[in-house]
Amino acid sequence: MEKIKIVCLGGSLDAGSSSLKLVKCAEKKLMMLGAVTSLIDIKELKLQIFSYSAMKKGPSPIFAKILAKIHEADGYIFVSPEYHGTVSAAFKNVIDHLEYLSAFKPPYLSSKPVGCIAVAGAESAGHSTLTTMISIVNNLRAIAASTSFAVGLGSNLFTPSGNLKDKNAERRLNRLAEEVYTLAVKLKY
Ligand SMILES: Cc1cc2nc3c(=O)[nH]c(=O)nc-3n(C[C@H](O)[C@H](O)[C@H](O)COP(=O)(O)O)c2cc1C
Repeated sequence: MEKIKIVCLGGSLDAGSSSLKLVKCAEKKLMMLGAVTSLIDIKELKLQIFSYSAMKKGPSPIFAKILAKIHEADGYIFVSPEYHGTVSAAFKNVIDHLEYLSAFKPPYLSSKPVGCIAVAGAESAGHSTLTTMISIVNNLRAIAASTSFAVGLGSNLFTPSGNLKDKNAERRLNRLAEEVYTLAVKLKY
């Protein structure tokens, strides 16, 4: 049986990004479950602001490879920081660039599972961002994992050495990774 491929996408443009650290934790858990993973650090993509007219010229060779990797994946983890009650512009810009996938067969992320995590600064925030992420996933024709979650106090989640110290967040992240992996297996085979 071919291994399950999961793309883990997220992070902010800031050094020490807690959303990027959460993407990496999710990736580690998925690797432990047996998935072949690809990490997409939004900061590294250095994408211009999306425009439909630029899209008509086609993706850059580097982004074309990323699109192929996304298309081939069996499931996804998306992590966005909460900016002013919604997803960050950088995260949304990557999503807008997934418009290239409208021409793929099947289009977008059709019928594949996506685990979403919204990371906020305030203690009980992130829920409006999570709702937006789930709406985005629906619009990409994908399936939002039911254990998707919002987590607050983003800057306090990790130890200085980068380990997830919030045990509740760790439990939820592990459960989400397990759900995405299980759904990916069930939908693929
Ligand atoms: C421009 C901006 C807007 C923000 N808006 C919110 C917000 O509306 N609610 C909230 O709880 N935190 C807000 N925050 C805090 C971030 O969500 C929080 O620091 C998060 O951990 C940032 O993710 P990162 O570490 O990956 O950059 C905001 C931060 C920035 C820079």
